[in-house]
Amino acid sequence: MAIKAPKGTKDILPDESYKWQYLEDIFRKVAASYGCREIRTPVFEHTELFTRGVGETTDVVQKEMYTFLDKGGRSITLKPEGTSPAVRAFVESSLYAEAQPTKLYYFTPAFRYEKNQKGRYRQHHQFGVEVFGSGEASVDAEIISIIVRVYEELGVKGAELNINNMGCPECRKKYNEALKEYLKGSYDNLCETCKSRFEKNTLRILDCKENKCKEIVKNAPVILDYVCDDCRTHFDNLQVYLKAMGIDYKINPYIVRGLDYYSKTVFEMIDNGLTLCGGGRYDYLIEECGGPKMPAVGFGMGIERLLMTLDEKGIVIPKPNYIDLYIGSMGEKGKVEAVKLVNILRKLNIKCECDHMARNVKPQMKYANKIQASYTMVLGEDELIKREAKLKRMSDGETIQINLDDIEQIKKVILEG
Ligand code: HAM
Repeated sequence: MAIKAPKGTKDILPDESYKWQYLEDIFRKVAASYGCREIRTPVFEHTELFTRGVGETTDVVQKEMYTFLDKGGRSITLKPEGTSPAVRAFVESSLYAEAQPTKLYYFTPAFRYEKNQKGRYRQHHQFGVEVFGSGEASVDAEIISIIVRVYEELGVKGAELNINNMGCPECRKKYNEALKEYLKGSYDNLCETCKSRFEKNTLRILDCKENKCKEIVKNAPVILDYVCDDCRTHFDNLQVYLKAMGIDYKINPYIVRGLDYYSKTVFEMIDNGLTLCGGGRYDYLIEECGGPKMPAVGFGMGIERLLMTLDEKGIVIPKPNYIDLYIGSMGEKGKVEAVKLVNILRKLNIKCECDHMARNVKPQMKYANKIQASYTMVLGEDELIKREAKLKRMSDGETIQINLDDIEQIKKVILEG
């Protein structure tokens, strides 16, 4: 029996990979315009990075991590997200000693053992940006504006920016007490995980996916009512900067995010009930990971969900042609000439193909049609003797006489039409 890909994973086949490349080009272009540079971190890390960073009481750590012992007996985890590894690398390589802020971007696979459903995969991919070293609300707004720019470039409309403020450890303490007080009466009706969260990390109950817990927290007090002056000012400033950039937003006190490292600003882009991307400030994570006390903010955008949304909105990513010229041939001499010519033209960045299936000319041309070659040419005895051939433009059948030794002419016709 043939082996299938594991549940929750997806092959990105050639008929789809061009879309990923297109998105990546846009991400890179936009990130570069903000002065961000790429970081690539390993696919696996020491488990402790995530238990410490993402938080022991989160769903991600408690239920979703791909964790195993390697042959040396070390506990290893496939990364469930990109922020903690970027922070680990930043600290490990002392990038904090360089000029700040440090602006990084990445594409990463992320692994979470989640229930298989629409927009939820066990291996998904994120485009992410992290800015280390600045505690200014202007950088939170800038991070959000990167997402807005990406959507603009793609023509995505209708996604709603939801913002909230999670406070600092000081305001969180006060809020935790209020939340506990509210939940006390419903303790027995909470799921088992939430019962254990009640003492350890009450706030995480707000993020539980169980229906009965969702019902209980519906009328819970909201953190925005408990934030200190400093956090309140930060939130007000964020809104000033968003308005200055013309970015619409909605204050949503129920955005609490599923990871523990957040403080102050948190946000999600929601479209049709689906969270397309999310992020926020995490001013304590760098220190938590052994670095200096240094603020940070970032976001992660799910690429599969973005592609899904583009599809639903009827936004078509242009399919690139992948062959400019197909050179057909007759006989061995013709084939040798074709092999020689494609080799020369490829060095000039012309995408070429010739026959490798020992086909006759007719099926060769049929194949050229199927792969949608922009131009075709056939090399037979006649062409070799005269050193001349016909370049056929497949879109309208127009033919252009070319000299086989005039590479510049061939290049010009193909690239300029
Ligand atoms: P997150 O909200 O867990 O945040 O994930 C970011 C995005 O990844 C989500 O909004 C969603 O689009 C996508 N995503 C998450 N899980 C799945 C899944 N199972 N299947 C498909 N897509 C998924 C983070 O990971 C943070 N590291 C974001 C961040 C960066 N915060 C600060 N900096």
